[in-house]
Amino acid sequence: MEYQIQPAEGKLGILIPGLGAVATTFIAGVEAIKKGISQPVGALTQMGSIRLGKRTENRMPLIKDFVPITGLNDIVFGGWDVYADNVFDAAMNAKVLEPMLLHAVKPELEALKPMKAVFDREYVKNLDGNHIKEETNKYKLAEALMEDMRRFKEENNCNRLVIVWCASTEKYIEQSDVHETIEAFEQGLKDSDPRISPSMIYAYAAIKMGVPFANGAPNLTCDIPALLDLAKEEGVAVSGKDFKTGQTLMKTMVAPGLHARALGIKGWFSSNILGNRDGLVLDDPDNFKTKEVSKLSVLEEILRPDINPELYGELYHKVRINYYPPHGDNKESWDNIDIFGWLGYPMQIKINFLCRDSILAAPIVLDLALFMDLAQRAGMSGIQEWLSFYYKSPQTAEGLKPEHDIFKQLIKLQNTLRHMMGEDLITHLGLDYYQELVDAM
Ligand SMILES: NC(=O)c1ccc[n+]([C@@H]2O[C@H](COP(=O)([O-])OP(=O)(O)OC[C@H]3O[C@@H](n4cnc5c(N)ncnc54)[C@H](O)[C@@H]3O)[C@@H](O)[C@H]2O)c1
Repeated sequence: MEYQIQPAEGKLGILIPGLGAVATTFIAGVEAIKKGISQPVGALTQMGSIRLGKRTENRMPLIKDFVPITGLNDIVFGGWDVYADNVFDAAMNAKVLEPMLLHAVKPELEALKPMKAVFDREYVKNLDGNHIKEETNKYKLAEALMEDMRRFKEENNCNRLVIVWCASTEKYIEQSDVHETIEAFEQGLKDSDPRISPSMIYAYAAIKMGVPFANGAPNLTCDIPALLDLAKEEGVAVSGKDFKTGQTLMKTMVAPGLHARALGIKGWFSSNILGNRDGLVLDDPDNFKTKEVSKLSVLEEILRPDINPELYGELYHKVRINYYPPHGDNKESWDNIDIFGWLGYPMQIKINFLCRDSILAAPIVLDLALFMDLAQRAGMSGIQEWLSFYYKSPQTAEGLKPEHDIFKQLIKLQNTLRHMMGEDLITHLGLDYYQELVDAM
């Protein structure tokens, strides 16, 4: 089936709950790229290419020339935060980008002032901002967010909106009856049920407005039946959870390689130190739990100890995040991997990744915003599993295990783009033309 993709006409508004380190690094970066000061390194939508047809055809366009995504000059930014700082001040506070770069885009960033947030300290204890909406119940908060979206769209003359959640990780909660059906959820909103988190209110408002919603944090958010049903009903694309950067990015590159060679793994100890506001929020055990669940799931799915108990049945996997202010946004991670090979002989791998969290996350925000908008224009609604590539804990339909292997995720992403554009899917078999080549020799 070839998709009928609506053209990317007019402006796309990218609305972001949480104008902190990741969001401001993303916005400042796009503004700098538009001015020709910097390059969009790490963004597939800007720098990635895609092979089309047989290897012999030598067709390898840039993704942005292959699929009709919105151009950077047609993007308008907006967002919400619990602090009233404009994006320039917030970016200066985040200390990710150097002041010289930020000053080069100061007017654009200063003009971006957050709208009042929907916030609940029960969900994020370590923040004390007071730039917060004060409606009398959660249903009215959702309506206020919808009004924000309407106003933003009109004032900025946008054709379309997309939302990418870049706000703090909320405390860990499990799915319960209020999350099961749309009726229960809407009643819960009216009753201000404590099990409905702020991020769920944003997601609900977005879906009701027909705005695609991507979730960059590990919170449940739109990964509940009520909102997934609503997304299908309203024809809205959703995806999540938790941007795949830093240590987990490495893990989903290394683990598939070890698994591919049938090497055994006994233990994988992962530790991090980071000192940004995200680290401060994750210093609270309830918030860390949400992150821990997200980070722990990847190895099991890649290694499948149930299928290969001799190689992975004993695997001990531990993840630690430590708040360490002197490092700021420059996260440092260590991985100690105890592996074994032929006849069970032990070996070790040590990875010490000195990364920059927001530098790795910013291009993901851009790609997700542009691909989610593309999916929406292509009429693809519900979970966008083909965007698993960008997430630590990809959302999947109920009963399906998520795919964590980054290389399989990339194949799925690229094949989805080929499929959307009516190109042949690539299986890497190649026997058909290989034989022709051999015969011609
Ligand atoms: N940087 C990464 O590599 C990475 C990777 C995966 C996930 N994440 C997630 O992305 C999110 C953002 O990370 P960050 O480093 O920018 O954190 P940050 O603390 O710098 O920014 C988060 C911002 O969200 C605001 N906020 C909190 N609750 C809000 C609400 N309900 N509505 C509106 N604003 C709200 C905070 O005031 C803060 O400004 C976090 O949840 C983090 O766990 C980041």
